[in-house]
Parts: sequence; C-alpha cells; structure tokens
Amino acid sequence: MDLTLHVWRQPGPDAPGAMKTYDAPGISEEMSFLEMLDVVNERLEAKGEEPIVFDHDCREGICGSCSLVIDGQAHGPQAGTTACQLNMRFFSDGDDINIEPWRATAFPVIKDLMVDRSALDRIIQAGGFISINTGSAPDANEVLVPKTDADKAFEAAACIGCGACVAQCPNGAAQLFTSAKVSHLGLVPQGQPERYDRVVKMVAQMEQEAFGSCTNHRECEAVCPKEISIEYIARMNKDYLKARLLRGRG
Ligand code: SF4
Ligand code: FES
Repeated sequence: MDLTLHVWRQPGPDAPGAMKTYDAPGISEEMSFLEMLDVVNERLEAKGEEPIVFDHDCREGICGSCSLVIDGQAHGPQAGTTACQLNMRFFSDGDDINIEPWRATAFPVIKDLMVDRSALDRIIQAGGFISINTGSAPDANEVLVPKTDADKAFEAAACIGCGACVAQCPNGAAQLFTSAKVSHLGLVPQGQPERYDRVVKMVAQMEQEAFGSCTNHRECEAVCPKEISIEYIARMNKDYLKARLLRGRG
C-alpha cells in the first residue's frame, strides 16, 4: 500500500521541531509499524537524508521503549497494543498517518520521536522495590498469597513503563504508572513491611517531576497497552491516605 507520513522532526532538545511529510509507497500490510519506519529510514539514508529517530528495543510489547503517538493516540489505533506490535494491516492504502513523540512536559524530546522518560525511572528509584530479605525460593513458596491478590498484583506488574498514560493524559499525569508500580508490590506479602513508606516516597517523587495531577479523564486507561485499570489509582490513593494517617500518629 502507498502511504503518506507526517512525522515530527526535531534535531535536538532545544531546537524547534516541525511536522515533515514523506511518501511511503509499497508498504506491505504484513509489516509492523516499526518495520514500516525502518523501510522509510533505509530510503532516507539511501538518499543521504537523516533517518527518523525513534525509540525501540524488544519489538514484542514488553520493554516499553516504543513511544509513538500515531494519529493522535499513544501507541496508535489498536487497543491494548504497543506501537511495535501494531500491524500495518490496520491501515489502508492511501492513508495519511501522523506520527509524533510523547507530548508531556516531563518527557522532553531528545530527537525527532525519541523522548527522555527518565522521570519514570526516578519514581521507581524512590521506592519501587522490596529491600527486606525475603529468603530463598522455597521460603517464598511457604508464604501463601490469596489468589485474588496474586491476580491483582500480576495485572499491575504487567506495566511496561512506556509512559503512554502520561502522553495521552491532558494533564500529563503519571498516576496510572505510579499506581501500577506501587500496587504490584503492595499487594504481595513480601511488599508489606515497606508498603506505606513506599507509597509516600513514590508519590513524593512523582510530584517533584514535571507531571500534572490526575483529574479522572481516564485517557490513561484507554491507551494503556497492558489495559491497566484506574482502579489502581484508587488503590494508591487509599494507601497514601492511610500512610499519611499512620505518620500523623507516629
Ligand atoms: S500504566 Fe500502561 S500506559 Fe502507563 S506506563 Fe504502564 S503500561 Fe504504559
Ligand atoms: S519496542 Fe519494546 S514494547 Fe515496543
């Protein structure tokens, strides 16, 4: 199929950017979206032009690197799918496709479609881990975990840290990401000793970064490639409130 791409090109973090149009003829509908960009880049390089910079790694929906806003939607038009898993068969011959980077103050553009998402790493560094000694694997197997808690923890642990939730939110809020990271540890027995300290530290870091506040638009949930529910935001808020009450008493 023959496509027309409108792509955000920006030479560097402080340079002005603009949409640039490229013809992309002869694209196979068997390609993934990133393979389509690879083909476009090969053609640009053959003409001596700079290839389009975009972030990617696993290309199988697990690393969270691919960060493209496609036709106004983070990760593109297919629900529950990362940009790298999006297939070109979801587009039609003659389509115009707009491709932009994540747009959020907390994610400054590095170049073209690649943004700096280290703000998410700093939220994890603030408390998204278990530092107590949990013993060896047999010890872990001794600790019974209710099935409903295990399932809920697993759902939250599916977060790949892509940042689509932030990019789609009109406030640029990171509540869905932070709540997923708070919850998958706070739901398992091994995560209990640090549960309330963790939520306070991670929320404090989230607030220090350039994210906005959650006002329940639910855009995050709609674009999350792992379909993580805003129920986790409610869970995080509940834990945060309890932590503040506990600290008040302490
Ligand atoms: S909550 Fe969903 S959209 Fe947000 S970072 Fe995690 S996987 Fe990506
Ligand atoms: S490249 Fe790893 S999730 Fe898309």
